[in-house]
Amino acid sequence: MNGNIQETIAFDIYGTLINTHGLIDMLQKHVGLNAWAFSHLWRQKQLEYSFRRGLMKQYRDFGICTAQALEYASLSFGISLTQKETRTLLNAYQTLPIFEDVVESLERAKNAGFKLYAFSNGKASDITKLLDQANISRFFIDLISVDDVQSFKPDPIVYHHFLDKSTANANNSWMVSANPFDVIGAVAAGMRSAWVQRSPDIPMDPWEFKPTLTIHNLNDLVKAITDHRKTPADEK
Ligand code: 2OP
Repeated sequence: MNGNIQETIAFDIYGTLINTHGLIDMLQKHVGLNAWAFSHLWRQKQLEYSFRRGLMKQYRDFGICTAQALEYASLSFGISLTQKETRTLLNAYQTLPIFEDVVESLERAKNAGFKLYAFSNGKASDITKLLDQANISRFFIDLISVDDVQSFKPDPIVYHHFLDKSTANANNSWMVSANPFDVIGAVAAGMRSAWVQRSPDIPMDPWEFKPTLTIHNLNDLVKAITDHRKTPADEK
């Protein structure tokens, strides 16, 4: 590890460890070939609702954003889900699959001595369920939810809450996320951030805040952080 300094990693959950587009097969039953577009609109609206609720100071938990976004996507695609169908989809959302690089990369990061946390917009009970069913809870010291402070990423308050609760220093802490807004939010709050660019056709937002480093597969995380540490400050 890094001398006697122990670095902390906050892993984002939805979109980074958990595949939010894991319900395509179920959605096909409702919208056929539009399942992919439906899934994207559902996710996009879920995030938009969280941003808007954060700005408006009208907090309701992330599960409500998910449910209301599902309703919006259904209206947009002109379908009418029964209560039972809605419940089935929302229950399935709580058992979404992990990406294939997750287990090995968490194992590697833990073995390398990093302190691992799950840090999410989701409320603790939902994240616990997701991590338990994927059998990855064992890697984390704790899970920290924005629900504690009733706001959402990228409000700086949630990153400060993460640092307070994990007792980590911003400059020894990495936010690992595939979500550009989360990367930018963490960097703006003083943390380092590794952006997981899962596909070359997903661009980073061209803001003045940049990811500290970019990887394309979670398995590259430990090496990328180690290389970053060795890079002289004026080359970073
Ligand atoms: C999460 O916090 C941003 O949805 C993402 O898990």
